[in-house]
Parts: sequence; C-alpha cells; structure tokens
Amino acid sequence: MRGLSDEFIEEVRSRNDIVDVIGEYVALRKTGKNFVGLCPFHHEKTPSFSVAPDKQMFYCFGCHAGGNVFHFLIKRDNLTFPEAVAKLAERVALPLPEPELSPEEAQRRQEREAYLNALELAAEFYRLALLRSRQGAAAREYLKGRGLTAETVERFRLGYAPDAWDLLLNALTRKGFSPKVMEGAGLVLRNRERDSYYDRLRNRVVFPIFDVRGRVIAFGGRVLDDSLPKYLNSPETAVFAKGRNLYALNLARPAIRENGRAILVEGYMDAIACHQAGVTNVVATLGTALTRDQGAILSRLAPETVIAYDADTAGQSATLRGLEILGEAGCRVKVAVLEEGKDPDELIRRRGPEAFREAAAKALPLVDYRFALAMKAGDPATVEGKVGIAATMAPVLAGLDNAVEREAYIQELATKLGLTVEALRTEVRKAAKTRQTRDPTAGTGSQYIPAGARNNNGHDLGKAGKARPSARLLAERGLLRLAVDHAHLRPLVSEGIAPEDFSGEAERALAKVILGEETAATAALEPSQVLARLQDKEHAEAAAELLMAEPPPGEPDKLVQGYLKRIREDSVKTKAERVRAEMGRLEREGRPIPEAMLREYLGLQQLRSASGTAAPPAQRPDVRKGKPDEEPGT
Ligand code: UTP
Ligand code: MN
Repeated sequence: MRGLSDEFIEEVRSRNDIVDVIGEYVALRKTGKNFVGLCPFHHEKTPSFSVAPDKQMFYCFGCHAGGNVFHFLIKRDNLTFPEAVAKLAERVALPLPEPELSPEEAQRRQEREAYLNALELAAEFYRLALLRSRQGAAAREYLKGRGLTAETVERFRLGYAPDAWDLLLNALTRKGFSPKVMEGAGLVLRNRERDSYYDRLRNRVVFPIFDVRGRVIAFGGRVLDDSLPKYLNSPETAVFAKGRNLYALNLARPAIRENGRAILVEGYMDAIACHQAGVTNVVATLGTALTRDQGAILSRLAPETVIAYDADTAGQSATLRGLEILGEAGCRVKVAVLEEGKDPDELIRRRGPEAFREAAAKALPLVDYRFALAMKAGDPATVEGKVGIAATMAPVLAGLDNAVEREAYIQELATKLGLTVEALRTEVRKAAKTRQTRDPTAGTGSQYIPAGARNNNGHDLGKAGKARPSARLLAERGLLRLAVDHAHLRPLVSEGIAPEDFSGEAERALAKVILGEETAATAALEPSQVLARLQDKEHAEAAAELLMAEPPPGEPDKLVQGYLKRIREDSVKTKAERVRAEMGRLEREGRPIPEAMLREYLGLQQLRSASGTAAPPAQRPDVRKGKPDEEPGT
C-alpha cells in the first residue's frame, strides 16, 4: 500500500467534483438538489442512482451501492483505494507524493518487483521454447491437436517448458537473477542435499497466469500425455494467491462488464476454448474451489455469474459450493447444464461454439437448477420421493426474498410434483421459520427504515444475507444519522452507547468514525468526511445508505432517547436469553444452577416486563447491579 496522507487524499477528493467524475461514466440529470441516472452497477430501466453534490456522495436506491468519489471508481473500475486516489490525482494533474515506505515495505516491494520481472522473462523464455525450439515441436503439435489456433496461443501467451532440469535457471541467471529470487517467484525448486536449484516445470505446456493488469504472476504447466500430475502450478508466492485471482480475467474483464455477466469455468483449457470460440466473458478458477475473494471480484464486475462446470458429480458439488459463495457475494447466479462428462472445452470441440453459447444462454436460475438436481435424486412418482424433493426445495424457496417470485415457484413446483400448493407452502413456511431462528436479523418492526430499504434489488436469488434489519439495528442507524446531523446530540449518543457495542459490523465501523475522538469536537460533520475515513466498500455503502436517506422524522432529542431505550431493552433481552441458555445447559447436564444466576435471570425478566410500562424505580429488582447492558460475568 502506498503511504498516502489524509491531507493528500482530501486534496484529491476536493478537486474532483463527484458530479463531474461520475458524469464521465453515467448520463446524469438534475432533479432538485441531486442528480439522477441509470445505475452503472446493476441493470435498471428507471433511474435509482443518485448523486448529491452537497454531500459529495452517490447512492443507488436499487442496489445500495454508494460512497464518495473514490468508492465510485473502486467499484466501477475494480480498483484498490490507493489506485482510485492515484487515478483521480492524475485527472486533476496533481503529482503523487513520493511514497514513504518503511524499510521492510521498501524491501518487500523490491522483492515483488524482482519476482514480477523474473516471471515476465520466464514467460518469454517458455513462449520462445514453444515457438522456436526443436523440443517445442511436440508441444506445438499437442496444442494444435487440441484445436488451438496460433492466434489463441499468442493471445494467452502459451509456452513450453523444455525437458531439462536447468534451462530456465540458466537463462534467468544470465539475465542477472539470483536463484533465491527465482525460488521466491515459484520458478525453481531447491534441492537441499545438493544445495542446488532446478526448474519447477519440465516438459510441460505452460499457461501463464496474469493479474488483472496483465502482468504474469504464476504459471500452470500441463503434461503432454496422460501422466500425472496432469497440471503443476506455481505455489503461493508474494505475487500470487490462487484464491484471489481468476484465470483469463485480464482478457475477460471488458466483456464481463459489457454483458453484465461472467461465465465461470473450471479449467485453463475451458477458458481458452471459450475465448477462442468468441465467448470472451469467461474466467476460470485456478485449480481450487471458488473462494469468497473470487466471488467478490465477480460480483463487483457484473450482477450475474453463470457457472459452467463439468456435469460429473465432482463438478456438481463444486457448482453447489460456487452457487452459495456467489450468492453470498451478491451475484445473481445461474448454472449452465452441460452434457454429462463434458467440460466446456469438449463441448465446443465436439458440438461447436453454438452449443456452448446455447448452454450458457439457457443457464438455469438457482432454484430451477436445485430443482433439477432434486428431481434426479428422488423419484417424484413415489410419496417418499415427493417428500424428499419438497424437503430439499423448501429451504431454497424460503431463501427467496421476493414474495412474488417465491409464490410463483411454489405453484410451479407443486404442479410438477403433483402436490397441492397449500402443502408445499406449509413446508416452505416451516423452513422459513427455521431460517429465522438461525438469522437474528430477520424480521423487523415498523421503525425508522432509511429510504430505499433493502431487499428490492431483484438480484436477491439465494442471497439470504441482506435480510431486513432488526429493530436494534434500525435504532443504531437512527442514532448514527442523528449524530452526523446534530453535533449537540453526539455526546448524548456517546454516553448511551460505545462504538464497539453497536451490533452491526458496518454500524460499528461507522460509529467509530462518527462518535470517535477525532470528530467529537467537530461541529459540522460532512458526509464526505465520514466517507473519507471508510475505505472498506461494505462500510462505505452502509454509510452512503444512511447519509442519503431522509433523516428520521420527529424531534431529534426525543428520537435519540427512544433509540437508546430500544437498544438498552434489546441488550437486556439478549442477555436474558444468554443466561437462560446457560441455565438450560446446566440443567441438561444435571448440574445445579447457582442462585446468583437464577436471581440475575429473574431480575432481567423483571426489567424486561417493566420497561415501557414506566414502572416506578422502587419496583425495580434489587439484583440489578450496574447498567443492564453489561456483559454477564460468565
Ligand atoms: P481438469 O482435470 O478438468 O482439466 O481440471 P482441464 O482443464 O479440463 O484440462 P484438460 O482439458 O484435461 O487439458 C480443471 C483445472 O483444475 C486444475 C487446473 O487449473 C485445471 O485447469 N488442476 C487439475 C490442477 O491444478 N492440477 C491437476 O492435476 C488437475
Ligand atoms: Mn478439459
């Protein structure tokens, strides 16, 4: 990370008016004091994307993207925070300050640079070995046999690692690289006994792996025959993390943006075959299961991801895991069902590009895919089969946020299973209850809900994470909003609740900024100041949602007291539940319940029933020691 000072960041931010910057990407129209346009982060026909010049922030009421001008670029161009700052500095011709690095940082950076240089030269070495060397002929034949054109080979910079122990080692040594650097870059291995080094990849077709900027960061190497292991890959290095990169992303990024969807395949060859066939929004994982980081990369680029894995059982379970991860990352997920035993590469080779295009176009939405699997696993003609299928599908349907969609599926599946709609609906309801008890944030009162309350973005397939906020959370958000708007209320809020006691992760981060020492004395707290302190995308979005909403209606002082009361009550309730659970555990284990615990529980119960009914203080239980929201001493 570059050591950019707060002053410099603020300077860049203030020189880049958010309306101008976003206006370069989105057609904006003025309405009232804000500007609106079609959201670049999700597909929509009516504008719900709003830019506020006074607050220097943006917010989409549809998909909840939001933040300041940096957050916009981070999301729009998949940049890191320092990259966004650098880009906007360049936009206003502000020279970047010389980064101040600690000696360790400077060394690490130098190391990384050396690795990248070695990797780049290695890629060139392998490429020439493929194209020019006599040994490379077999590899050329192999790639040709697999249907790759010379153009594709060039585009993916494919290469060949000669059948020798030290050709790469020697070539890079001549260029001035030490074996230590080559080892750090994952290119060579060390033989401890002989204290010598040797090439990691030998007699293999080489697939360079690139980062988003197109720099070589690793290699995969495939044997030319059926020997094992089929692929050897670079290890994790200072420049390569398998779980944080996707193969072909550097080439696929524009098409993914343009299509609003990414296609995810399993193998290098699959990705290459798809690109060669003209389907260029395709990326592959790197020999491991899809990770959350990869899910996040995809969800930032496009609202939809299609999984196109092998149809075998391994592929199926990988698909189910992928569905979950992508769903959690906020992607709308579909599954392209390929013929049994075929991966995209084979499908294209045997049936042509059209067959793959069609499979991708006909990709099944999450629910349909799960249903197809369930129908295969059970026999819908038998009672037992129907019960099993309904039991599998009920939680899937219960997970749909959109009631209309859920209802439509219930009717469709009931018909297909020959069940009454009522029977299936009952199962779904039961499943929904189990979900709710597992998800403490499900269900809410009619309290302050910021404008554009979540859960209407239409991308919620399989995304249970964005359940409606709890009353507690809404109270916390109300407090935060009022603390921004009214400096005189900040001390009151701070006395009532500490930043670390906020229950939501984003709310805690926001509270630290809004109620923190640095801002405590500031009279006017600008939304942009709050946003500037939040680099995490999720936190910035939560902040944007909060700051863009209309302030809660009512008298601010009274509202604060009401919110604090609600939070106190919730703390008491949570604590009572915890104590009760603890008592239940002791009881089950046949151990005595300490009297102090019992009294604490009864006291908490009394507090609960007393709250809201304005019980006189004398009636309050005497076991109450200290504030009710203290942690139990267990
Ligand atoms: P596959 O076995 O499906 O290979 O592994 P593939 O990509 O279809 O290759 P071909 O068509 O047989 O040439 C899928 C991916 O899993 C990783 C690689 O990234 C591969 O592309 N893998 C597989 C390994 O890392 N090591 C292995 O030994 C096998
Ligand atoms: Mn294959």
